[in-house]
Amino acid sequence: MRILVTGGAGFIGSHLIDRLMGEGHEVICLDNFYTGHKQNILKWMGNPYFELIRHDITEPIRLEADQIYHLACPASPIHYQYNPVKTIKTNVIGTLHMLGLAKRIKARILLASTSEVYGDPELHPQQEDYWGNVNPIGIRSCYDEGKRVAETLSFDYHRQNNVDIRVARIFNTYGPRMLENDGRVVSNFVVQALQGKALTVYGEGSQTRSFCYVSDLVDGLIRLMNGNHIGPVNLGNPDEYTILELAQTIQAMVNPHLEVQFKPLPQDDPRRRQPDITRARTWLGWEPTIPLKQGLDLTISDFRARLLAEGNDLPTPGTETLATPVVS
Ligand SMILES: NC(=O)c1ccc[n+]([C@@H]2O[C@H](COP(=O)([O-])OP(=O)(O)OC[C@H]3O[C@@H](n4cnc5c(N)ncnc54)[C@H](O)[C@@H]3O)[C@@H](O)[C@H]2O)c1
Repeated sequence: MRILVTGGAGFIGSHLIDRLMGEGHEVICLDNFYTGHKQNILKWMGNPYFELIRHDITEPIRLEADQIYHLACPASPIHYQYNPVKTIKTNVIGTLHMLGLAKRIKARILLASTSEVYGDPELHPQQEDYWGNVNPIGIRSCYDEGKRVAETLSFDYHRQNNVDIRVARIFNTYGPRMLENDGRVVSNFVVQALQGKALTVYGEGSQTRSFCYVSDLVDGLIRLMNGNHIGPVNLGNPDEYTILELAQTIQAMVNPHLEVQFKPLPQDDPRRRQPDITRARTWLGWEPTIPLKQGLDLTISDFRARLLAEGNDLPTPGTETLATPVVS
């Protein structure tokens, strides 16, 4: 098949492309390189079955493809809040363009939506028929509400124009190639730990998250795309950890001498987030297989290699000096 991946130079998109290329498909990667990097897809450059197009999806484009994985959108708060109006445009205008393209070329399109559509949920764990508790005017709304509109557009194109859609609600995903500076909790802790700095926990660290390793997530996306159910389907790891537990796990794996530092909670930070993956289990026969420690091990190795390649001097565990004062 010829498969279009928007946001293909990003974290999840590049892992998805690795899988699709490995399965012998022809892949077109569309990206404006806002948070994506050529480095992530470098190994496919020059491959006759791979094509890279620098393009911003807020502008229309004409292409031919059998399937579209629509992932283009910055995923970390630091990046999506940097230019919130652009984030909304990417989610709304960009998704309109991709749905219009899918309609025209009769391609199946999978939208990478998010657990953020549940906002700060009153229901726990979250099932797909829960409508969510989202602040429409907060600083996360450009992303949360943007994705909610993207879902609405997908279902309206489906009902009105028979567009063959799939909607995945992705929960926290982590793994190699996450940006070092994206402010997400796993990358934050791993970088801080490798650099011998205190691990920064917001609030008391009692808020919970689930963490899905990227290869598991990619497997779920491919199953959803090629299955018969349109969704929405939660894709995430139902194992729930407090942020403090995550900090302590990474601390133990990288450097047990590090301190944990507590800072005030940012606005609209959800207290609990855990997917109910009954649908994914029954509809797709999918569930995560990589345990947190194994996934963290692979992630820490990748970050260590990248930090060293960038010329960082990483301390040997036990020899670092802790410059940051501990506040608790
Ligand atoms: N990583 C997660 O934990 C997570 C959780 C829920 C949902 N998602 C969704 O999955 C998708 C991929 O996330 P990710 O973690 O790989 O993020 P990422 O930021 O690494 O990747 C997003 C990619 O989209 C590109 N992009 C952004 N705006 C664009 C535009 N206007 N035109 C063209 N390209 C554009 C970026 O350059 C980047 O390559 C996103 O849609 C995100 O909302 C991710």
